Amino acid sequence: MARTRATYICQACGAVAPRWQGKCEACGGWNTIIEETAAAAAVPVAQRTKRKGRVMQLESLSGKGEEAPRLASGLKEFDRVIGGGFVHGSVVLLGGDPGIGKSTILIEVAAALAGKGRRVVYVSGEEAIGQVRMRAERLSLKAANVELAAETNVEDIIATLSEGPAPTLVVIDSIQTMWTETVESAPGTVTQVRGAAQALLRFAKKSGAAVVLVGHVTKDGQIAGPRVVEHMVDAVLSFEGEGSHQFRILRALKNRFGPTDEIGVFEMTGRGLAEVENPSALFLSDRDLGSPGTAVFAGIEGTRPLLVEIQALVAPTTLGTPRRAVVGADPNRLSMILAVLEARCGVRMGGHDVYLNVAGGLRILEPAADLAVAAALVSSLSGSALPHDAVYFGEISLTGAVRAVPQAAARLKEAVKLGFTRAVVPESGQAEGVDGIALSSVAALDRLVAEIAARAPRTLRAAAGRGEDG
Ligand code: TYD
Ligand code: MG
Repeated sequence: MARTRATYICQACGAVAPRWQGKCEACGGWNTIIEETAAAAAVPVAQRTKRKGRVMQLESLSGKGEEAPRLASGLKEFDRVIGGGFVHGSVVLLGGDPGIGKSTILIEVAAALAGKGRRVVYVSGEEAIGQVRMRAERLSLKAANVELAAETNVEDIIATLSEGPAPTLVVIDSIQTMWTETVESAPGTVTQVRGAAQALLRFAKKSGAAVVLVGHVTKDGQIAGPRVVEHMVDAVLSFEGEGSHQFRILRALKNRFGPTDEIGVFEMTGRGLAEVENPSALFLSDRDLGSPGTAVFAGIEGTRPLLVEIQALVAPTTLGTPRRAVVGADPNRLSMILAVLEARCGVRMGGHDVYLNVAGGLRILEPAADLAVAAALVSSLSGSALPHDAVYFGEISLTGAVRAVPQAAARLKEAVKLGFTRAVVPESGQAEGVDGIALSSVAALDRLVAEIAARAPRTLRAAAGRGEDG
């Protein structure tokens, strides 16, 4: 029997400290270290000592690779994000804020797969059977042949799942509520979460069932519990959206069997999550035509073109250090664009607060958005609205040159589909144009600035100067 000894484990990063301390030295978190029992925390000493090893069967690299047959659930937006469908024996972690719709999307996926005659088990550690049924009723999925359990003990769950034919899909809602008898710490601690996840992972690999673990997200957006769970699983998905918006975006943060740049777009309705097949139309649905400070960016998310509105507000500041607030884009990228505007185009925003927002709760990471961001900024500063039928894309370099970006044709086609007739694009490296849209190419950012300024009711210099007087 292993001696039990207290160890101190950070609940945020899983680091082990020799004694209790207020701050974790590994991740810098405060009050994240709690006491757990050592017999459970580490691999039991008894197991580490002289057990005679079992002889394994070694395989050759060239042997027939186990192909990953995918099992599409039928929910297209979901399947796209996981790379075409569930891979047998894989474990997926789905993270997201409370109330964002994790249980809803998973019951929909479960019902869709069950409808194809597969065995699907939904285990809820948070809600009673009645509550899960109520949700299913609301989604009109009551007739679906999904097997339900309200249980938190991992050994009991695995014993139940091992009875009868192996399930195709097992949903565990959520991993933080699960506990395993092999670990002595309290449920919800890092050690328990890790132990439970490990047991379920072993079950998935052995039985070939795909397992989806729901994970809660802490205030700063990390999946609560140890990072190690993220390392253990095959894919990490994140379900995002703003409470006030009905859009929900599913995105892969890690995927051993597929791409990580695909997104799935859903809309939360009174009767569950509806798939959004044409997200561009949705993201552009309530545009404010004719007001300065907005530009439409023709972007690419994964394999799919997506048009979004970029909104900028540039306003004179009363603060010594002007504000730079960004929602849905990279603040460093904004700083760079502001610096290039100032150094290469003579547009001074030092006396102005700058707010940047990507409409619809979307997050844009592509450098191709630079040109649209710059256009929105200059438009807001000069008070000159951009043409409402134009889209923008192009990467801005530190020299002020506008660089080509990949998949220009796909971006242009999507713009045509949504009724845009003009595109402002990089000059170099553009493939031939697309029917129905006029290209206006810019080689350097100052060209675009001059064009916008020429239509402006107030000159840029005057606008920039006003902030400096104050
Ligand atoms: P839920 O799936 O329980 O969220 P999570 O599991 O991520 O905590 O979804 C809860 C929210 O979704 C709740 O605020 C109500 C809303 N909702 C709808 O608007 N329509 C619906 O059909 C359902 C089932 C939920
Ligand atoms: Mg839930």
